[in-house]
Amino acid sequence: MLSNSLIELDRAHLIHPVSSYRSHEATGVRVLKSGKGATLTDVSGRQLLDGFAGLWCVNAGYGQDSIVEAALRQLRELPYATGYFGLGSDPAIRLAARLAELAPGDLNHVYFTLGGSDAVDSTIRFIRYYYHAKGRPQKDQFISVESGYHGSSTAGSGLTALPAFHAGFGVPYSWQHKIPSHYAYRNPVGSHPQAIIAASVAALRAKIAELGAERVAAFYVEPIQGSGGVLVPPPSWLKAMHAVCKEHDVLFVADEVITGFGRVGPLFACEDDDVVPDLMTTAKGLTSGYVPMGAVLMSDRVYNTIADGAGRAAVGHGYTYSAHPVSAAVGLACLDLYENGLLENGRKAGHRLMEGLRALADHPLVGDVRGRGMLAAIELVTDKERKTPLPVEADAGRRIFDRAWDNGLLIRAFAQGVLGYAPPLCCTDADIDGIIERTRTTLDQTLEDEDVRAAMKG
Ligand SMILES: Cc1ncc(COP(=O)(O)O)c(C=O)c1O
Repeated sequence: MLSNSLIELDRAHLIHPVSSYRSHEATGVRVLKSGKGATLTDVSGRQLLDGFAGLWCVNAGYGQDSIVEAALRQLRELPYATGYFGLGSDPAIRLAARLAELAPGDLNHVYFTLGGSDAVDSTIRFIRYYYHAKGRPQKDQFISVESGYHGSSTAGSGLTALPAFHAGFGVPYSWQHKIPSHYAYRNPVGSHPQAIIAASVAALRAKIAELGAERVAAFYVEPIQGSGGVLVPPPSWLKAMHAVCKEHDVLFVADEVITGFGRVGPLFACEDDDVVPDLMTTAKGLTSGYVPMGAVLMSDRVYNTIADGAGRAAVGHGYTYSAHPVSAAVGLACLDLYENGLLENGRKAGHRLMEGLRALADHPLVGDVRGRGMLAAIELVTDKERKTPLPVEADAGRRIFDRAWDNGLLIRAFAQGVLGYAPPLCCTDADIDGIIERTRTTLDQTLEDEDVRAAMKG
């Protein structure tokens, strides 16, 4: 089929996630055709370095034969097995057991979903059920962090704290509350780690006091805020927030949908801060995006309370495709890769990525460079002293994305002029160097834009 007709069919029929439908109709789709390692090829034959691993998910990189073989084997042998009626499948059971073994502390129980949004949504249901089982149903208020992203399900989108996910959708609900982000580059308390931690601790304490600890069910947090612009908290920030939750008998939910599976170095980012959450949500790198799957990891305490509370009654939460055997087989193949060199390569490549991005700090447009491992961002400004964002006319999200694309680089260009990086963990040195080089070219070109130059003079 000609790509032109694909573009027309897309325009007429395919609704794209988180997009302006009208702008997309006007622009038309870019169709991707194939991938190998960290390189994508589109239908016109253009090759691109994928600096964003699809949507921060293809951690293993494209074209990993062992993953493809595992999926094929499972498709041939048993393409579907329900988990209802007490049934199960070999790969799903093995994957649950392996995750339990690898996850921190007593996160020993796994509920599989299809992705991150339904993993977050499932935690909301489980947590409500947990407090009902404890005889404390009034503990029904949820707290999350400004600029956080926790998916776009009906309930989860209200824990998300990004305006586009709220406007027009009637969320957040009255039981969903926020505290300010740690956002070190623009934090009103300054950038000193201790000051940022103290401010966040005080904000969480104050929010719990305002609502009443007896009403607060859970606190949701990403170890590094992804969709909010890759906002990296200082070391020990997560630990400090965890301690406040413990103090107030509030469940701590780590949303590791992006940060899990080697994205920031260890298998799970919580390990860096020595934190064992009560629940953890994962997806993306779990199957490296080859097939859909997410997982809720639940601590012994939460699981046993729910189990005992229900007794002989069914816990009425389930999906047809929970613990899908093909996804689980892919998940096992991904874990094999992570454990047999991929995490190690990711750590090495992450080091090179951060070094390369830090070397861009001298560019006139780069105000901030931040990240950990293979998750990073640079924030563009027109005045480094005043931290002035790019002018709205510069349409940073669109213009920089397009420009990087033309330079053979796929990155995330956030509307506020933040460039996000999350390359596959399989990147070679040459891949990383290519990402940096093409970024510099893109920045140099942006520096020539009339509206950007005018803003810099102003
Ligand atoms: C932290 C976090 N939670 C939840 C989600 C939602 O996952 P999904 O898009 O698989 O539904 C995402 C997606 O990017 C995410 O970054």
